[in-house]
Amino acid sequence: MSPWRTRPNKITLLQRIPIFEGLSQRQLGQIARLADEVEVSAGKRLATAGAVGREMFIIVNGEASVRTRRRTVRLGAGDFVGEMSLIDGGLRSADVEAATPMRLLVVSSRDFWSLLEAAPTLSRKIMQTLSRRLRDAEGGVSA
Ligand code: CMP
Repeated sequence: MSPWRTRPNKITLLQRIPIFEGLSQRQLGQIARLADEVEVSAGKRLATAGAVGREMFIIVNGEASVRTRRRTVRLGAGDFVGEMSLIDGGLRSADVEAATPMRLLVVSSRDFWSLLEAAPTLSRKIMQTLSRRLRDAEGGVSA
């Protein structure tokens, strides 16, 4: 089936994700073309620390467990994982696993920068989140 046929439903799904709030239909259409929608079972490994990262995942629903060297954190709807490797081309910084069944939007490294151009709000959100993750990693002031 042509990907164009699935777009109306996908756009409805995208509109419900807070990081895509306020975007035009055109921008949502671009995002729909750049992100694949997938469902995974609990226990599915999304990233392995030290491995090459080839995609970023935006969580539509369900929860992911991120295990860094310091601790384990749970992420849920509207959060994303896997952005770090795509930004700097480095290896995965943590293990990430589906803690529950999940619905995800998957963006490949090839489409990552185009996605940020299509969704400026997502760029801002990624910067804010990276800043928070850095504070967390450094054990600095985090309020
Ligand atoms: P990446 O390094 O590509 O793969 C592992 C992912 O885990 C990483 O991108 C981030 O999305 C996520 N991650 C790493 N450190 C943290 C943290 N301290 N808090 C939340 N998520 C993190």
